[in-house]
Amino acid sequence: MARTLITSAIPYINGIKHLGNLVGSQLPADLYARYLRARGDDVMFICATDEHGTPAELAAAKAGKPVAEYCAEMHEVQAELGRGFRLSFDHFGRSSSARNHQLTQHFAVRLWERGYIEERTERQMYSRADNRFLPDRYIEGTCPNCGYEKARGDQCENCTKQLDPTDLINPRSAISGSTDLELRETKHLYLLQSKLRDELDRWIDSKTDWPVLTTSIAKKWLHEGEGLKDRGITRDLGWGVPVQFPGAPWSGMEGKVFYVWFDAPIEYIACTAEWADFHGLEEHEWRRWWRLDEGAEDVRYVQFMGKDNVPFHTISFPATIIGSGEPWKLVDYIKSFNYLNYDGGQFSTSQGRGVFMDQALEILPADYWRWWLLSHAPENSDSEFTWENFQTSVNKDLADVLGNFVSRVTKFCRARFGEVVPAGGEWGDTERALVAEVERRVRQYEAHMDAIEIRKAAAELRAIWVAGNEYLQTAAPWAVFKTDPDRAAAIIRLALNLVRLHAILSEPFIPDGAGALFTALKTDAKAWPGDIAEALGALPPGHAFEVPDVLYRKITDEERAAWQERYAGKR
Ligand code: 2FM
Ligand code: ZN
Repeated sequence: MARTLITSAIPYINGIKHLGNLVGSQLPADLYARYLRARGDDVMFICATDEHGTPAELAAAKAGKPVAEYCAEMHEVQAELGRGFRLSFDHFGRSSSARNHQLTQHFAVRLWERGYIEERTERQMYSRADNRFLPDRYIEGTCPNCGYEKARGDQCENCTKQLDPTDLINPRSAISGSTDLELRETKHLYLLQSKLRDELDRWIDSKTDWPVLTTSIAKKWLHEGEGLKDRGITRDLGWGVPVQFPGAPWSGMEGKVFYVWFDAPIEYIACTAEWADFHGLEEHEWRRWWRLDEGAEDVRYVQFMGKDNVPFHTISFPATIIGSGEPWKLVDYIKSFNYLNYDGGQFSTSQGRGVFMDQALEILPADYWRWWLLSHAPENSDSEFTWENFQTSVNKDLADVLGNFVSRVTKFCRARFGEVVPAGGEWGDTERALVAEVERRVRQYEAHMDAIEIRKAAAELRAIWVAGNEYLQTAAPWAVFKTDPDRAAAIIRLALNLVRLHAILSEPFIPDGAGALFTALKTDAKAWPGDIAEALGALPPGHAFEVPDVLYRKITDEERAAWQERYAGKR
């Protein structure tokens, strides 16, 4: 059985994510996990909350809560929203777990022993007003690369450039806004990525099937400017994985923690261990996904993330893994995404602009969002959410094409033959043509899903739904019934079987709708279709079903206008 390890970038703990965040990693990762499970693969799908560093500390301070308490609460909120969107994680862990503390410290010691970590004394921004150092997001200013005025000390959100707090123009404290800053000496650990540059370069070169978006960002990091920089992997912060711990080979690092971007990807591994702990499994059960010496040789590892995360996954995390000298699994394929914009501008967490995961579920169930987001995933360029487009897509694709097909077929059958698959009649040319078309399209759909070409897969799935409608239109069982009830029975039998096929194929995109169809068809026959003619005979004559409730409702113009207005500004 093929084994696939899938990780989604782990969302920061600070607050509820918007739909742009969702479609940039967790949702497409879920689509892929569901698809591979349906194909019979052994899948391990991992995600977690990213709980350390300045984002967590700043948000907790704003909420007026101790950071540990804030993180515990927000983890539950995000876990619940994940369930709401039907994200089928095998485990949704926490980067603040004991497992991650241990593993992060373990990697740091290994890297130190192998000469890939060294101690450096450096000058860091210190705020006299706040009485503390200002690492990463504790400092804001103008990006030296693109001029964006709200760049943070660790990275510019606008141009994705990695920054040091000292790079910023007109720096100010994110806590107090104070510009009364000075450089003070402090000691930190550095990951000597530059020593691994050639190895990383060769590794990236070997990934000829990776999307250009992924490799070009990695290459930029390896070669642009002075080339790959060594990175400070510790911070003067209270919350995180302690740098000074019993058995640490360095000293004098009290009061410091590892940089959030050092421990966050390690959480992918730690989270798999959390999964095993949760289920009371032995160590080997999680290690077989990660350790090449314990069975992970035959695992394919696929990561999902937004483009701003690519440098950390193509350079820093691989540097940690390779530098450790231990046989940990490296990523095989990185699927990265551009940004989703919102109605003529950007989604903005700080300004509450756009639709956030909790709000989305308050107005419509998960499938509506999943379908729109996935069928418009920002794969090759940034894409844009507009309410008009959302309304059109839901009303046409889900309600008119899929929903209507199901409703016409099941209701017509009930009226003429009762709620059972009718017997009688045979396939003619129209049926054989439909089967041939569906066969071709299903194989195409599989090819797009295998390649994680999400928009193309969605388009193909929609085309399969459309083929059903067109068939019904051409075969016209309601007219045929008057003169040849047997022939009408054959048409409806095929159409009911097509509903089952739609459910199987659509499940990765719209799991709730697919579930409702299986329930209505009273079937557990959910195996992925091989031969399509055979699959379209799975529900035999006499098989009972019931007409389902309306699968997807339409969005009215009034609703659209009201939602557009409601989510335009402050949350
Ligand atoms: O961009 C983000 O939301 C980060 N928290 C992603 C971290 S992914 C990883 F390294 F684990
Ligand atoms: Zn910039």
